[in-house]
Amino acid sequence: MKERRKVLVTGGAGFIGSHVVRQFVRDEKYYVVNLDKLTYAGNLENLKDVEGKANYKFVKGDICDPDLVQKIFADHDFDGVIHLAAESHVDRSISEPLEFVKTNVLGTMTLLEAAKNLWSQEGRRFYHVSTDEVYGSLGEDGLFTEKTSYDPKSPYSASKASSDHFVRAYGNTYGLPFIISNCSNNYGPNHFPEKLIPLLINNIKNERPLPIYGKGENVRDWLFVEDHATAIKLIYEKGRIGGTYNIGGLNEWRNIDLVEFLCDLMDIKLGREKGASRTLITFVKDRAGHDMRYAIDATKLNKELGWSPSLKFEEGLEKTVDWYLENEEWLKDVTSGEYMNYYEKHYSHSDK
Ligand code: NAD
Ligand code: DAU
Repeated sequence: MKERRKVLVTGGAGFIGSHVVRQFVRDEKYYVVNLDKLTYAGNLENLKDVEGKANYKFVKGDICDPDLVQKIFADHDFDGVIHLAAESHVDRSISEPLEFVKTNVLGTMTLLEAAKNLWSQEGRRFYHVSTDEVYGSLGEDGLFTEKTSYDPKSPYSASKASSDHFVRAYGNTYGLPFIISNCSNNYGPNHFPEKLIPLLINNIKNERPLPIYGKGENVRDWLFVEDHATAIKLIYEKGRIGGTYNIGGLNEWRNIDLVEFLCDLMDIKLGREKGASRTLITFVKDRAGHDMRYAIDATKLNKELGWSPSLKFEEGLEKTVDWYLENEEWLKDVTSGEYMNYYEKHYSHSDK
């Protein structure tokens, strides 16, 4: 058998990372090393089905640790890196911005330095996974394209924008072969229940209030996580070096409409009376600096590489709800201990 292509995935125990790792491990031509610190958001339960596979290795560690990162690069002679490790929750970035600078900026820099110092041969690629939040906030019309100017508004998006800039700067200055993609909101299995959709599923299940920031009029463009992972694999394999690709669901929802839709779906799934879960909706104090609308134009990715989302939102959401209802232990584990401290601290002060 030909030698496998070695790829380093960072943050592979998180929500999107675990789906990316699974897709690459399933493809026998790859050998995948997953470097993850296992923060509150990282969970090896997400990767039970790849554990023990001959073409997979997990390393617990911090992307901000230069010695560790240099050693991993030296040990493995990677063909490429897919960098997903990050602090990813906007609300946490508002209360603890420095953590976001450390991981998202310094951590990315540490990886870039290792790649720059150790990658002398051609044919490698540093793929940085980023977000549409770097573009700021849209009004009622328009879509983010790859040409939209950066205008990050939250500490999270500022840290991601900064890391995008450093990746491009390493390409321009040192010739590092890079690719960046900027994706809209993901949803699906293994999503940590601090984010809107899994938080709502957990609260509806437990008949707890459903906290909606402001008037619930903010709009997000939702994409099923497996479709994002498929796009990442395609871009990693066929994307143009130095290129940027926007990834999105063409699927805009106002938060309040999404919540109502999810309530009605879960009433059916849980055998509750129609309208029962909607009574849990509670409008709370708005997020500081809350971006009004995100929406992605993914034409370039579609035209160049033929990607489009495979699932309709209604199907993806039903799959997601089913997964959470079938994986009660996963949900119980991640919502015990520290999660409740976070939850109490964040939501106890959020009355209007
Ligand atoms: P997540 O919070 O679920 O997972 C992050 C992972 O990174 C966890 O496994 C965590 O343990 C790991 N990690 C954090 N700090 C680390 C460090 N210092 N060293 C090593 N590992 C560390 O995040 P996610 O939602 O899966 O997002 C993954 C990436 O995709 C992020 O870069 C995020 O900005 C980007 N992204 C997310 C979305 C979304 O909707 N979730 C959309 C677009 C882009
Ligand atoms: O757009 C991509 C981004 O999407 C990613 O880069 C981020 O990592 C990811 O967390 C996500 O950011 P958002 O801030 O859009 O996602 P979140 O699930 O936190 O919130 C979605 C919307 O729901 C947003 O308008 C805020 C609102 N919201 C959120 C929570 C947690 C509520 O109304 N109530 C809540 O309790």
